[in-house]
Amino acid sequence: MNSRNRKHLVVLLLLLVCTCRTDAFFRTFKDWYDKLTPSNEECNEDWISFDGRGVGKGLEADLGRNLFGQHIASDVILNAMTGFMNNDNPKKSLVLSFHGRSGTGKSLASQLIVKNIFKKGMDSRFVHFFNSIINFPHASQVETYKSQLQHWIRGNVTNCAHSVFIFDEMDKMHPGIIDGIKPFMDYHYKLDGVSYQKAIFLFLSNGGGEIIRESTLVSWKAGKKREELKLEDLETALSSFAFDYYGESNVVDFFIPFLPLEHQHIVQCIMVGMVAMGLQPDHNKACKMADNIVNYIPDDERRISIPGCKKVASRLRHFKQSNKEVPQPAG
Ligand SMILES: Nc1ncnc2c1ncn2[C@@H]1O[C@H](COP(=O)(O)OP(=O)(O)O)[C@@H](O)[C@H]1O
Ligand SMILES: [Mg+2]
Repeated sequence: MNSRNRKHLVVLLLLLVCTCRTDAFFRTFKDWYDKLTPSNEECNEDWISFDGRGVGKGLEADLGRNLFGQHIASDVILNAMTGFMNNDNPKKSLVLSFHGRSGTGKSLASQLIVKNIFKKGMDSRFVHFFNSIINFPHASQVETYKSQLQHWIRGNVTNCAHSVFIFDEMDKMHPGIIDGIKPFMDYHYKLDGVSYQKAIFLFLSNGGGEIIRESTLVSWKAGKKREELKLEDLETALSSFAFDYYGESNVVDFFIPFLPLEHQHIVQCIMVGMVAMGLQPDHNKACKMADNIVNYIPDDERRISIPGCKKVASRLRHFKQSNKEVPQPAG
């Protein structure tokens, strides 16, 4: 077949697929169009809606498919989000505090939440991301940061009640700044004429990570399955952080523990990484890699991964570039 005929055949096949799936085609086309026209996002149901337990594409499915080894976090997030988003008249904004060691999926979970509310996901102009180290680095500037942040939150919530604010590295945030934004998260009908009751605040921190890790190890040594670990088993440990971070008037609705990841989860992350990098996903290779690229504790039983899935992407890139059979052990 010459190249012209081949082109015709491709067009014909495309047309056939489109005719059979006109609806899907227009939906895809509209998604493309929406992506290409960045300024047309509005604060309405066309752009903001929640599909918590929807079949196939809801938050439940997304958490189940993408967030490995976090049965407690997945459950609490889903319940909290479903309750809040289906309530037309929430009494306060939703405040979730994620705790766990780095590389356990806190940022990923926040992205999945956002993806299931905003059509534009993290690109939505109603989603605001802050990192304490980058955005609020100097203790001497606390008052300035505080008033800028208050101003920013008020302006954005006035503009769209459903705004989401994500604070990463929250444990490194100066308490003065947190004090400044607490009123927005508390039970107030309105502040200066603005209602914050539909806004969502997500705080991500490594604080509590050690205690969560210890509790997971203790439970495992006592012969319990990971899935038997309940929120209640970790809540007391986490609540000790509540006071340190948020002070007396605790505005947090849910403290959510992210468990340390095990070998099997590292394998899952590697498989995902392989696909993302255009490599052929190979379970045996992924298992071997998981042995080598990540350190585990305790030394003798190698149960829990220290860096979580954080190093996986960079190790895989190194592996792909150097085309090694198995990457070098992590240093
Ligand atoms: N539990 C998990 N399930 C799936 N992928 C994970 C998980 N934890 C971490 N990852 C992956 O590892 C990388 C770092 O994770 P991230 O969510 O940024 O961790 P954290 O915010 O807890 O430090 C990301 O690429 C993420 O997709
Ligand atoms: Mg993170």
